[in-house]
Amino acid sequence: EATVQKPPLKILLAAPRGFCAGVDRAIQIVEQALTKFGAPVYVRHEIVHNRYVVDSLRAKGAVFVKELDEIPDTSQPVIFSAHGVSKAIPEAARGRNMFVVDATCPLVSKVHMETARHHEQGREILLVGHRGHPEVVGTLGQLPEGAITLVESVEDVRAFKPKDASNLAYVTQTTLSLDDTAEIVAVLKERFPGIGGPVKEDICYATTNRQNAVKALAPQIDGLIVVGGPKSSNSLRLVEVAARAGCKFSFLVERAADIPWEKLDGAQTVGITAGASAPEIIVEEVVEAFRSRYDITIDVVTTLEERVIFNVPREVRVARAPIE
Ligand code: F3S
Repeated sequence: EATVQKPPLKILLAAPRGFCAGVDRAIQIVEQALTKFGAPVYVRHEIVHNRYVVDSLRAKGAVFVKELDEIPDTSQPVIFSAHGVSKAIPEAARGRNMFVVDATCPLVSKVHMETARHHEQGREILLVGHRGHPEVVGTLGQLPEGAITLVESVEDVRAFKPKDASNLAYVTQTTLSLDDTAEIVAVLKERFPGIGGPVKEDICYATTNRQNAVKALAPQIDGLIVVGGPKSSNSLRLVEVAARAGCKFSFLVERAADIPWEKLDGAQTVGITAGASAPEIIVEEVVEAFRSRYDITIDVVTTLEERVIFNVPREVRVARAPIE
């Protein structure tokens, strides 16, 4: 029996990677609501942007809907996703006496509160973010139409015409590119020196740490595999960070089956990371797929230890369910 020699390959795992505290909390809310109240538990929008997570929760009895009007009259829990929702959504739910459990990430809620504060102080607000992303829809929907203007680029900032240039503030989406956002904010401050903004920043710790981990890894690898869903903003940004840092390739994969093997040809060192909504079990699946084709060695490159945990709201809290 002929054994084919597998080519050697070094794998460097980025750390931190994968689940953030907001995603972990959102999944726990659905899991614990199912344990406490039984199926069905309704979830408006994908709880997090990951198909594996959504499918496994659906298998346990979660029912995912786009809008509240798809939900029948019920006393079962109705959960809002980690991305946050417009003010109109909880209002509509209250109107129907729904039992709402809000899985909005506390770091997104913090941005919502900032917009409210700026608005009370009479400021016109700019939101730096990606049009159409549910977090952006939710943040825009915190205030009456027209109170917040979305800007996606430096060009948008240059074209913006304020009502009163001396009375402005900005907030941002939590999952943006650190570098792009720094550039946009620099132009905002150059055009409007008095503009109000977040005390630290709105890009969350998990987005920051995952991007910095990829930057640290980039000089040591030929290319990067990012485990994450195609709608996951923070995962897409990791692909960009690697490409800009000079990696020969960087790919987003939902599952191991998506790895474009032919494009890895000749690679000696490959980095692997995962977006904030991607479960570690898929990272393991990807590593095993590499093992089946290469003679691999694995190292973990840790840039920082994360210790952030967000509690599950009391109304659904039961013993912690395992996340697979
Ligand atoms: Fe929250 Fe950041 Fe995760 S905003 S859901 S901690 S990616």
